[in-house]
Amino acid sequence: MSGDLHELMKNRRTVRNFLPDPVSEESLNRILEAVTLPPSGAGLLPYGTVVVRDSKMKQKIREGAQKVEIEYYENLSGRLKDKFDAMGVNSEKPFLTDAPVLLIIAGDTEKPYWLESTWLAIGYIVLAIENEGLGSVTYTPSDFTFINELLSIPDRFVPQVILPVGYPANKKPPKKSRPEGRVYYEECKE
Ligand SMILES: Cc1cc2nc3c(=O)[nH]c(=O)nc-3n(C[C@H](O)[C@H](O)[C@H](O)COP(=O)(O)O)c2cc1C
Repeated sequence: MSGDLHELMKNRRTVRNFLPDPVSEESLNRILEAVTLPPSGAGLLPYGTVVVRDSKMKQKIREGAQKVEIEYYENLSGRLKDKFDAMGVNSEKPFLTDAPVLLIIAGDTEKPYWLESTWLAIGYIVLAIENEGLGSVTYTPSDFTFINELLSIPDRFVPQVILPVGYPANKKPPKKSRPEGRVYYEECKE
């Protein structure tokens, strides 16, 4: 692994607060090129990406997301709820209207290895976003049906993520190595 890639991975942190500054076409095109570069099952790139920049559509997406999230967060309990409370994550999703660009990545269920390939591509994309000096949050609403309806996505495509893309309003410090990461040699000693 090159040092630069390692630095990029350490610097990438989740961004939920965005500046209104626009994302250039050049940056967006480089990010969209990254969508086409990962390995994928039989090389079929079994996913599609919808780019949303229209503010009215972003507003509709935010309203749709918040509607499904109200129920999700109301039914949440235990450790996950405590964690989200500590992170300030709740049913309000301002990043869906604050970020200048939303990328919706949807897996094509008619192609092999669609789920694994889609998430591998999402990993590439979040690093490509970081590489442009931009930020994102891997936002996974509890139900994506509203996205298929709003964006006319055929049923065979199952959205996996909404990635808001924009300049971070604030940035968390780079990651440090985490020794508790579960690595075993020769056999798993869990
Ligand atoms: C599969 C996946 C789903 C996630 N879903 C959400 C989400 O729905 N909402 C959100 O605010 N963050 C979401 N995140 C972001 C995580 O909360 C974040 O990555 C984690 O807190 C670690 O922070 P870091 O990205 O700065 O390392 C998700 C991340 C992943 C990988």
